[in-house]
Amino acid sequence: MSVAVPKTTLSEFVVLDNERIADGLWRLRCNTPLARRLEPGQFVQVEVPNDGSHILRIPLSFAHADAREQTLEIVYAIVGEGTARLARMRPSDRSTMVGPCGNGWKLPQEGGRALLVAGGVGLPPIVACAGLLCDAGVGFDAIVGAQTAGRHCMDYIDELRSMPLHHKCDCARNVIVTTDDGSLGMRGFVTQAMEDMLAEHPYAQVYTCGPNMMMAGVAKLSLARDIACQASLERMMGCGFGACSCCNVLMVDGSNALCCTDGPVFDARRVQW
Ligand SMILES: Cc1cc2nc3c(=O)[nH]c(=O)nc-3n(C[C@H](O)[C@H](O)[C@H](O)COP(=O)(O)OP(=O)(O)OC[C@H]3O[C@@H](n4cnc5c(N)ncnc54)[C@H](O)[C@@H]3O)c2cc1C
Ligand code: FES
Repeated sequence: MSVAVPKTTLSEFVVLDNERIADGLWRLRCNTPLARRLEPGQFVQVEVPNDGSHILRIPLSFAHADAREQTLEIVYAIVGEGTARLARMRPSDRSTMVGPCGNGWKLPQEGGRALLVAGGVGLPPIVACAGLLCDAGVGFDAIVGAQTAGRHCMDYIDELRSMPLHHKCDCARNVIVTTDDGSLGMRGFVTQAMEDMLAEHPYAQVYTCGPNMMMAGVAKLSLARDIACQASLERMMGCGFGACSCCNVLMVDGSNALCCTDGPVFDARRVQW
């Protein structure tokens, strides 16, 4: 008789390293058995230890989950108390995380080339998406935006650019970098670069993660050209597994979906932006 493995469980993690990789952005690498069960686009709920006044976990996406090594790679922006304390965790420190949470990226239904559009700390789940596409032999181009050069995670941009070498397929042909202030790459928002790309290439699918206003713009451009678009949304979260109903996403039909269990990746056509 086979024993069903519960979908979302509590797992331990041990910090391997935790370092600053750009202005205000940190990368946590940790060892956890949960890495064996995570799919690109899903997220985990991390408990940051040593402050009993903060009982809620922090929802975080990941760039890489290595099932064989059981390692997980998370990139996070320091925005408040919880993420500031997370940055103080040191190698061999231990805590727990809940996961896998939510639904991840889906491959394009009808094949064809994909366009990935990332803004700010939306890049890690887009890197995970790129890995999924490459493994399936789906080619893609990418646009990666940040406010300014110092906020770009150059390691991941290099990784996107080198994916064809790693996977021996025609994955990332173009990786366009933008900054709002023009300090690196093209000056302007990712949506401006996206308009250029859409004019030059036929895409079957757009994948996006970043600030809500950016994703609304990306969704609008995609849907105006009748291109399918998947967007990874963020909401304030309590539990992360459908128990507290605090992560509502308004849909075009007037209903409310839960970001944590119906998402975080949604079909952009269904979201009321
Ligand atoms: C599914 C999901 C995946 C995420 N993945 C990542 C990731 O990979 N990297 C990353 O840096 N961040 C990610 N976030 C956002 C991250 O969870 C918040 O930045 C974090 O919870 C802030 O905690 P804090 O205690 O430091 O800040 P707080 O003191 O709680 O808040 C500081 C500020 O951040 C805002 N904030 C808090 N929680 C959220 C939230 N869930 N969504 C949006 N704004 C929030 C608050 O409104 C406030 O303005 C993700 C959020 C979700 C829902
Ligand atoms: S965070 Fe509790 S239901 Fe979504």
